[in-house]
Amino acid sequence: MNADGDPSDPKGDRWFAKVYELAGDDAANVPWAALAPNSLLADWLTRHAVRGKRVLDVGCGLGDNAEAFAAAGAQVCAFDYIERAVAWAKQRFQDSAVDYRVADLFAPPQEWREAFDLVHECYTLQTLGTTMLPAAASALASLVAPEGRLLVISSAREPDEPQSTPWRPLTRDEIEGLAVDGLSLEELDDFPQQGCLSRRWRAVFRRSRTSATRGRRAGE
Ligand SMILES: C[S@@+](CC[C@H](N)C(=O)[O-])C[C@H]1O[C@@H](n2cnc3c(N)ncnc32)[C@H](O)[C@@H]1O
Repeated sequence: MNADGDPSDPKGDRWFAKVYELAGDDAANVPWAALAPNSLLADWLTRHAVRGKRVLDVGCGLGDNAEAFAAAGAQVCAFDYIERAVAWAKQRFQDSAVDYRVADLFAPPQEWREAFDLVHECYTLQTLGTTMLPAAASALASLVAPEGRLLVISSAREPDEPQSTPWRPLTRDEIEGLAVDGLSLEELDDFPQQGCLSRRWRAVFRRSRTSATRGRRAGE
């Protein structure tokens, strides 16, 4: 992957499908599958109540983050555009209360529009080329209900830092650039590299009371 992504696979779906296919039934072959909730999410959940809230987990992979939200009492919908990932998550969590779906962030079901109190994305944006980021930002924002929040966890880098991974950690400008279509940045934490864990961002954005759709119609 380069800064502009792979032009023959702009959304990365062929690449992700191949990874899940080659993994067989062994999660050790899925590089991001920790088989536990992300530590920055787990930490966030100790201080933020989600009980009863409508939560959407974007690019859910094998489901651990979605399950963490459900364990905290949220009503969770989680999706991935790779069928194998969704089937795998369902197989791992057979009694789950999570509503697992196959869907594409760039073409979400209409009924998800502004439907979630909290939209969560972890490590998916960093797999996109820079040219896809604005569309991804708008797609994420479109799912957040008025007064709802977007929580993003991503690897972080300085703009001039050489890239040494197949994914592309986000710069501060890129993470702050997710504040679009009525979202504003509420919190941005910068976690330094710790052992094998790279430097990471945890960002929270909030939508104002006015919905993006109404705002645009009113010409705001
Ligand atoms: C790097 S993995 C991270 C998985 C999970 N969020 C985690 O933290 O373990 C990115 C996931 O997002 C999914 N994905 C990437 N682009 C997507 C899109 N446009 N719509 C839905 N899922 C997507 C991939 O299939 C993959 O499962």
